[in-house]
Amino acid sequence: MSDVTMTVNGKTVSRAVRGNELLVEFLREQLRLTGTHVGCDTSQCGACCVHVNGELVKACTIFAAEADGAEVSTIEGQANPDGSLNVIQQAFQDHHGLQCGFCTPGMVMAAASLLKENPKPSEQEIRHYLQGNICRCTGYHNIVRAIMAASGQEVEGGAIAAE
Ligand code: FES
Ligand code: FES
Repeated sequence: MSDVTMTVNGKTVSRAVRGNELLVEFLREQLRLTGTHVGCDTSQCGACCVHVNGELVKACTIFAAEADGAEVSTIEGQANPDGSLNVIQQAFQDHHGLQCGFCTPGMVMAAASLLKENPKPSEQEIRHYLQGNICRCTGYHNIVRAIMAASGQEVEGGAIAAE
């Protein structure tokens, strides 16, 4: 075991961690931040996406000890200060960018990173950026529309049915 200290959603936390404890385990099991999901554990699905020092990271791909001293943001830290949905979360709701919701935290975290890098991404750029995030339900169309809407771009028509 070793001690780690990191800032998670603006709060400093210190805990003892196992050497092989993944960041996603640390967040879910030690901090009870269960909005970060585990869909595969093999770095493929993106359900575990968080931000570490401002970078999009799959939390199943790094050890908690590697995040010692880091600033970590999870889906629980994404709402506006008054608790309302942020612009990306609201757009997912408005454009039906989710069905079961399992992939949604990772999608929202990925979308936030994309819009930070590229505030007005094209549909193609959004689809390319989301290659590491798998959704079993929506067929991606509405997720892409939600992200376009969150970036302030015109989205034609309403939400469309899943593929
Ligand atoms: S649980 Fe991390 S990528 Fe799937
Ligand atoms: S909404 Fe169900 S996995 Fe994406």
